[in-house]
Amino acid sequence: MMTQTSTQPRSTSTAASDRPLVYVNGRMLPKSQATVNVFDHGLLYGDGIFEGIRVYRGKIFKCRQHMDRLYGCAKQLFLEIPVTPDEMTEIMRRCIAANEIIDGYIRLVVTRGEGTLGLNPFTCPQAGIVCIADQISLFTREQYEAGMRVVLAHRPKTPIACLDPRVKSLNYLNNIMAKVEAIHLSQALGITEAKDKLIEVIMLNTEGRVTEGSGDNIFIIKGGKLLTPPSEVGILEGITRRFVKNELCPMLGYQCQEREFGIADLLGADEVFLTGTAAEIIAVREVLEHDGKGHITKSHKISDGEGPITHALRKKFRQIATGDAVPED
Ligand SMILES: Cc1ncc(COP(=O)(O)O)c(C=O)c1O
Repeated sequence: MMTQTSTQPRSTSTAASDRPLVYVNGRMLPKSQATVNVFDHGLLYGDGIFEGIRVYRGKIFKCRQHMDRLYGCAKQLFLEIPVTPDEMTEIMRRCIAANEIIDGYIRLVVTRGEGTLGLNPFTCPQAGIVCIADQISLFTREQYEAGMRVVLAHRPKTPIACLDPRVKSLNYLNNIMAKVEAIHLSQALGITEAKDKLIEVIMLNTEGRVTEGSGDNIFIIKGGKLLTPPSEVGILEGITRRFVKNELCPMLGYQCQEREFGIADLLGADEVFLTGTAAEIIAVREVLEHDGKGHITKSHKISDGEGPITHALRKKFRQIATGDAVPED
């Protein structure tokens, strides 16, 4: 087991411009010194895993579920994390304290570690750990109320047989290249208004079933009932998705099922929303199809801004996130 030597945070002596203090392999370092070795396979091959986690009122939202997912993903990749889940949680708490975070975001990264230039992951004797606790810029209230315009990506989701999207690996190129479709379209159309900008896509699998966004899960609502794709279509099993499905929906009396669906169900929905640690819950007001050459070929209006069920779910989410009992389970 790696010894996680501790350097006391110098929260008062580090210049504001050199913050946050970042945990890197046992040391708490100012931002400018928080670096990893160029022989780390996390850099050379995207060989590693990560978590994005919210801090609300100083508590680590759904900490246990994030730890379960992190250690589950590590197992899938034969990656041995050199600290226990409890020790990892302690690392996160140290980062929160060192940076005086009340409401913020944690990026936890486990890399394969330093090795040779070859692909073999087992040349890397010890996994690396990086923990960044910082602020996160949210969408504005207006953006949540207006809902997003999203683009139907041409690029399909990596099939499970190639690399299971349930593994939250450091290789996000499939998602990034899909997202770039939206960004390029937005640029080609010269969109400048934040609420109209195209920054998110809906990805289909190779069978044409709806999977998720580039960094969020998707829900559709029809006739008051919610649907979200099951993990078999190829998605990350989001913790916000689970919270919505297993906790918020029952609290508010909504039926929510995991079921496969295609484009017609998406476009015919009364409401559509995305969920993710960073975005929380955000409505989709319009779905756009494009030709890959900077033109919209079809536009499908879903709703006028945020629909009533999405609004109720988001309100409940915010109530819990800003309440006295932020769940760490
Ligand atoms: C591809 C993908 N899907 C879904 C999600 C949402 O997951 P969570 O709610 O755990 O943040 C994320 C967030 O990181 C993601 O990257």
